[in-house]
Amino acid sequence: MTITGKTKVAGIMGWPVSHSKSPSLHGFWLREHGIDGTYIPMPVKPENLKTALRALPALGFAGVNLTVPHKEEALRIVDDVSPAAQRIGAVNTIVVRDNGHLTADNTDVTGFIANLRQNAAAWDAKMPAVVLGAGGAARAICVGLIDAGCPEIRLVNRTPEKTKALAKVIGGNIQGAAWERRHDVLAGAGLLVNTTTLGMEGQPALELDLAALPAYAVVNDIVYAPLETPLLAQARQRGLAVVDGLGMLLHQAAPAFAAWFGVMPHVTPALRAHVLSGS
Ligand code: ATR
Repeated sequence: MTITGKTKVAGIMGWPVSHSKSPSLHGFWLREHGIDGTYIPMPVKPENLKTALRALPALGFAGVNLTVPHKEEALRIVDDVSPAAQRIGAVNTIVVRDNGHLTADNTDVTGFIANLRQNAAAWDAKMPAVVLGAGGAARAICVGLIDAGCPEIRLVNRTPEKTKALAKVIGGNIQGAAWERRHDVLAGAGLLVNTTTLGMEGQPALELDLAALPAYAVVNDIVYAPLETPLLAQARQRGLAVVDGLGMLLHQAAPAFAAWFGVMPHVTPALRAHVLSGS
């Protein structure tokens, strides 16, 4: 589609940003809905984030996504912050309002839950959940689980101080467990989520004995490169329901697209195939 003066513009700021799949997925939706819009990757150095964000209203942008390393710093720059982003301490979506104000949200929370609801019919939110890792993604996931009614989150992380900090900020029933106990805490859990970088391309595999996990449990890895992580392969072999990490990426994008372009898009097999094709 030709870009004109009327074209709505959104994009993603990161440093680096070239690996991002967001231009591909928003581009798919723009074409699917015939919207006069575009979505561009913007490599923004950390020291330039404030200048770049503050320029958005003057440049006529509808908004932006933020990725590493800008998600936390952006909180201090924007005008309004949603309760979810405030609680998590990180922003992934900014909308430029008509009055030029920058409104910040974190759509990883709803993206995580929407992905489970779409791809894991067996998932029961009222069962205890095990979350591995205590970084930014784990924060969003814990907020999502608590808001969905999860009665107990067993949070397992290599660095106990990070577990304590997360539990303090997020609230809810979060029980910290030592990394060595990650095999035992699976007993009675309805959901296991890996939010660590283990299993990602170029990283060591996650070593985890799934024996204690009940047969009805759902296993979700938020790592999506590779799509089938060693953890998911192991869970599939045990006959457990598995959900890969690409779905969360696709679902977190939908509310942002709706806020900028005015149409709520759907996460479909065609979208997945397009993003996986790398085009
Ligand atoms: P994100 O923002 O995507 O959540 P992050 O904040 O860098 O990313 O978090 C990465 C998570 O992977 C952390 O919980 C980290 O554990 P620490 O808090 O101990 O650093 C976890 N992680 C990374 N490498 C690990 C390893 N070799 N063993 C166990 N956990 C690991």
